[in-house]
Amino acid sequence: MAMPALRNSPDLAREMRAHIGRHTGKSFDWDAFPGSRGFPELARAQMRYIGAGGSPKVDDPDTLKPGDFTLSLIHQPVGKYAPCHYHEVVEHFLVLDGVLTVGWMFGGDGGADIIEAKLGPLDMVLNQSERPHGFRNDGVGPVLMSISVGSGSPKPPVYACHPKDHDPALARRFGAMPGRTIAFDPDSDDPRQQEFARYIVRHAERRPVWQSGLARLDYVGETGAPLGGYRMEMIHLPRGVAVRGYARAVEDAYFVARPRSSGSAGST
Ligand SMILES: [Fe+2]
Repeated sequence: MAMPALRNSPDLAREMRAHIGRHTGKSFDWDAFPGSRGFPELARAQMRYIGAGGSPKVDDPDTLKPGDFTLSLIHQPVGKYAPCHYHEVVEHFLVLDGVLTVGWMFGGDGGADIIEAKLGPLDMVLNQSERPHGFRNDGVGPVLMSISVGSGSPKPPVYACHPKDHDPALARRFGAMPGRTIAFDPDSDDPRQQEFARYIVRHAERRPVWQSGLARLDYVGETGAPLGGYRMEMIHLPRGVAVRGYARAVEDAYFVARPRSSGSAGST
């Protein structure tokens, strides 16, 4: 779409700058989540790019205004966990570094089973809306992941098992009574396992589609996890490849995950 009135316009450059979030211009916020205050085992830090995600800090002047989704980075030190909770919208975790343990709760009222999956770099889980989930770092190094929530202004998380009103050991297991934690097994006949498997994308098990010189790997939508409000895909853009300008009727965000080696991840 030609927009001659804006070509080389200082206003356009200013507008573009106002829509760019730079990693080096931001800081991690260790006090983003009120539910974690007073619980050192829940410590994690958030860097907000678009909207506030699960944090109530919606007026952060360094954060881009959200439309239909948010985008932030989460750093979780070794041994820390986020208690089991749910949202009214979908939310995805894309692991960038470390190994993340994600638990989904099935059942409840003291009879919950928790299925736990381990995700490595470039693996993703899309947490269904209303599905209680928690995450924990059982690894030997910190976890870095990007998180998007499928609403520009999500409601506060609803806790299913928080250490403020449950045994801390139970909360660390995301609410599973002893013996009720099940390892994720995508080959199982258990319908709960099969359901969880539909929402997990393992990078090493997927093949990107090459098109016009670049590679696209679906994470949410198409061959990825079922659509829940927004699409997410990873683009591998080889050096020297360019894409002609285009316009879309929806908002697009490009989050550069690997600027030098393997490409970038974008959410729509
Ligand atoms: Fe969540």
